[in-house]
Amino acid sequence: MRSTFLLPLATLLAIAHGNPTGRRAMAVHESVSALPRGFAHAGSVAPTQEITLRIALVQSDIKGLEAKTYAISDPANALYGQHLTPAEVAEYVKPAEETLSAVSEWLAEHGVTPKSISPAGDLLQITLPVSTANTLLAAQFAAFKHVESGKTSIRTLSYSLPVSLQEHVHFVHPTVAFVPPLSGPPGVTAINHRRDTEARATPTSDAVPSSCASVVNPACLEAMYGIPAAKATGSASNAIAVAGYIDQFANSADLSRFLGALRSDLVGANFSLRTIDGGQNDQTVANAGIEADLDIEYTVGVAAGVPVTFISVGDNTIDDIAGFVDIVNSIIADPAGITVLTTSYGFNEQDLPVSLVVEMCNAYMQLGAIGVSVLFASGDGGVGGIQSTTCTAFVPTAPGGCPFITSVGGSTGLPPQVAASLSGGGFSNVFPTPDFQAGDVAAYIASIGDQYAGLYNRSGRGLPDMAAQAENVEIAWQGSFWLVDGTSCASPIFASMVAVVNDRLIAAGKPVLGFLNPFLYSPAGRAAFTDITSGTNPGCNTNGFSASTGWDPVTGLGTPNFDRLLTAVGL
Ligand SMILES: *[C@@H]1O[C@H](CO)[C@@H](O)[C@H](O)[C@H]1NC(C)=O
Ligand SMILES: *[C@@H]1O[C@H](CO)[C@@H](O)[C@H](O)[C@H]1NC(C)=O
Repeated sequence: MRSTFLLPLATLLAIAHGNPTGRRAMAVHESVSALPRGFAHAGSVAPTQEITLRIALVQSDIKGLEAKTYAISDPANALYGQHLTPAEVAEYVKPAEETLSAVSEWLAEHGVTPKSISPAGDLLQITLPVSTANTLLAAQFAAFKHVESGKTSIRTLSYSLPVSLQEHVHFVHPTVAFVPPLSGPPGVTAINHRRDTEARATPTSDAVPSSCASVVNPACLEAMYGIPAAKATGSASNAIAVAGYIDQFANSADLSRFLGALRSDLVGANFSLRTIDGGQNDQTVANAGIEADLDIEYTVGVAAGVPVTFISVGDNTIDDIAGFVDIVNSIIADPAGITVLTTSYGFNEQDLPVSLVVEMCNAYMQLGAIGVSVLFASGDGGVGGIQSTTCTAFVPTAPGGCPFITSVGGSTGLPPQVAASLSGGGFSNVFPTPDFQAGDVAAYIASIGDQYAGLYNRSGRGLPDMAAQAENVEIAWQGSFWLVDGTSCASPIFASMVAVVNDRLIAAGKPVLGFLNPFLYSPAGRAAFTDITSGTNPGCNTNGFSASTGWDPVTGLGTPNFDRLLTAVGL
């Protein structure tokens, strides 16, 4: 589904007789001081071995796009809801002509021909022998192994660019990124309990059934968050995209079983499929992915009637970040009605080079600009990050630290809900506190005084933004019923609510929500959330942050209420 765009041939021909080779002054562009923990040297590579690199060109007006994206996403702005087309976004992110020609000229000196691999032409791909790459980038590519997974990759500890190109090239990767493989669904930390396949009746009253204290299914979510059971209109211009990675396949037989037991009114509903990077669609029940099944069941089974697309990302990723940016480029090239993207995978921010964390964020900003709400699970290790781990300082997750992501934390219990102790939360070390939450973050930090001073970044973007059910969620997986825990549950649940609001907006002739955060933190938006004031998110040998009155880095603004969301959007 990824599109390939060739550079205009004229550009390449015109520069074929450029500077002589080897005359350019070089400067180190990115480097790592030591091999990151968990990786080991695995020998040299043959000079003739070919590698594929991508070159991120400096985008012509990323600041302009940022200002525009905030303007169209702020309910107080006259431009609110006026989403851009992909072509309009491309005008901001396409590289300047002089950037293209400067880079093409440099590559031609080494006999390297680039091809464009992003809709706006800001990403180039080159395939070249290691020996040429070493010369081009003053690098020393070698083999490295991720010890735990045994996965090897070709990387360098440092690379340089011609000084004259520093202002034109954002980065070249994969080079100095030692990214741990996405190791299993981060959100699903426990399978506590096997259930039989006995059907459950859907409660008819609004009261939350007491069984929801220990087993949470779509009927519980309807009662707790006011999610309508009635089917949406099913507008083709409003689809939820579910990101699927690491050969986690969504299984349609499991979905049927789930709907049969818990949403019999929706039996027969299915998801549609998009594959990128060689992604597969293995429907063997024994190969069903627990994360993929959870995500599909809590979108198809909660956002009744809304089309759901499962995006299966294969191993041939070109972005060096597990396919996170590849999905964005796929959606921008072919939006196909997608208005919400939910992802229940993530990284610890510190495990990615800043250049890639920023690249991802700029990509999600583009999705927001075209009217897609981008949701990520906030992580399951409390203040310790994606999963609980040993840590001396708190570990913010990525890409949730990107202000254009709506980071979804976890809650639990019968109303009034409390924080789920696994709920990932904290403060980014890459992105500063955005305006939309500046008052909230300042108030929270003031409220805790010196507690945890030095363990977190007081000037960082705070996450999560809100929270939803993240414990004891009932799913069908590989033919039987299970309970799962994790913010992996919360993200598809809230994605479903956003999509149903979008359905109502479309029916009323209004634009969909798009980039959510400025709306969520607005006076109207925050009124749609039930504040959570109890619970903590322990990690790194501490009790973690505490949920408290107002925004907090455990449950954000609190849990959503559907009717109040409708009121907030003026319906
Ligand atoms: C549901 O959709 C998936 C993906 O397109 C497909 O593989 C599967 O066969 C479908 N299931 C049914 C019952 O039609
Ligand atoms: C704290 O966050 C800011 C961005 O707001 C960043 O520039 C700074 O480097 C971070 N500090 C540390 C110690 O990571």
